Amino acid sequence: MASGHPQGDSPTAEALTSSRRVERLEHEGRVIAVSWADGYHGTFHSIWLRDNCPCSECAHPGTGQRLLDTISIPGDIAPSSVTPAEDGSVEIVWTHGGHISRYAPDWLRAHSYSGAGLGDRDAPLMLWGREIMHDLPEADYADVVSREETLRDWLAGVDRFGFAILHQVPIRPGEVTRVVDLFGYVRETNYGRLFDVRSVVNPNNLAFTGLPLGVHTDNPYRDPTPTLQLLHCLSTSASGGETILVDGFRVAEALRPSDSDKFDLLCRQAIPFRFQDEQTDLATEVPVITLGPGGGVAAIHFNNRSKAPLVLDEDLIEPYYEAYRRFAIMLADPEFEICFGLEAGDLLIMDNLRVLHGRTGFSAAGERHLQGCYADRDGLRSRLAVLNRQLIGMGAPSTEGRTTAPARPPASPAPGPR
Ligand code: FE2
Repeated sequence: MASGHPQGDSPTAEALTSSRRVERLEHEGRVIAVSWADGYHGTFHSIWLRDNCPCSECAHPGTGQRLLDTISIPGDIAPSSVTPAEDGSVEIVWTHGGHISRYAPDWLRAHSYSGAGLGDRDAPLMLWGREIMHDLPEADYADVVSREETLRDWLAGVDRFGFAILHQVPIRPGEVTRVVDLFGYVRETNYGRLFDVRSVVNPNNLAFTGLPLGVHTDNPYRDPTPTLQLLHCLSTSASGGETILVDGFRVAEALRPSDSDKFDLLCRQAIPFRFQDEQTDLATEVPVITLGPGGGVAAIHFNNRSKAPLVLDEDLIEPYYEAYRRFAIMLADPEFEICFGLEAGDLLIMDNLRVLHGRTGFSAAGERHLQGCYADRDGLRSRLAVLNRQLIGMGAPSTEGRTTAPARPPASPAPGPR
């Protein structure tokens, strides 16, 4: 491979941390290899680099949005030279027109697709079970609304654990939607902008009775399913009604190696969910376990109350029931669950595609009143990314308008145990 070495003593290069400095560049044919001072190596293909040229001809300087049409790039494009620029960036002159592209080392590093680089793109999820019972991600409302660092840490806890608790939220009707305003937007549904969870006469949903509720995700009959649910406790004088949470990803990952045929069936086979009342008829089909593009568990849809009659190949009915039963039994295993009481003023936020929630039954004497609403994860993650950008300089848009942030920012430690 041809190679070049950046001149590390240029004034701008000094601004780069030594570990993020590019130490060696090589290219052979259409492949460019970049080595950083800390030993990290990334391999980049010419068509990928040309497609992501950050110059003002290829990306709009104001918005950073792409101007270059991918299909205009010849498939056999290759560098005629790859050299370190004075400012520490990597400069490539391309065949086919002599276009010049310059890439900041930090941008290349953040977007490296070489195997070793993929691992640090995503914050590791914290899969949990009963062992976190005394170490929950939680914070106080007053701190979250007055300190951006605390809001960032609380949101990072939701992203990492799939749930978090907020204490001492003002006990006022509607406050649950004002908590959503801290990071995103309320998802209005047929239940309204918010809904009350308490026992009522003639309920349209078992949630509005005092009956115990097995763990479930909400609204699997909706397309798309709301990705966040919030519940704010306004009063609790009834006995019982304790909240149960289960990390569905943890349970699915426990099922995968122990019973791979059942796991595969729950992933492969969509099942119908339905909700009907006088005004509403919502129906969709989705697998109980959805895998992401990398094969990891990406979503759980599990709600025994709204599962509709299965329509499967005849020879799959009994195996499917066996797989479903096995997963349901694991979801009810106390090893995987945490259980706690919500006090008046407590608010619980959950990732509705990951964390299942349920409750123990509560007595008719006394009152238990929660207000809930739905919201979505994209808004929460956007707020988290912007807070990280402001607080620790992560992921600021580059001068060329390309973000240097990983797809999801590394998680901060969750607020401390209480
Ligand atoms: Fe629910």
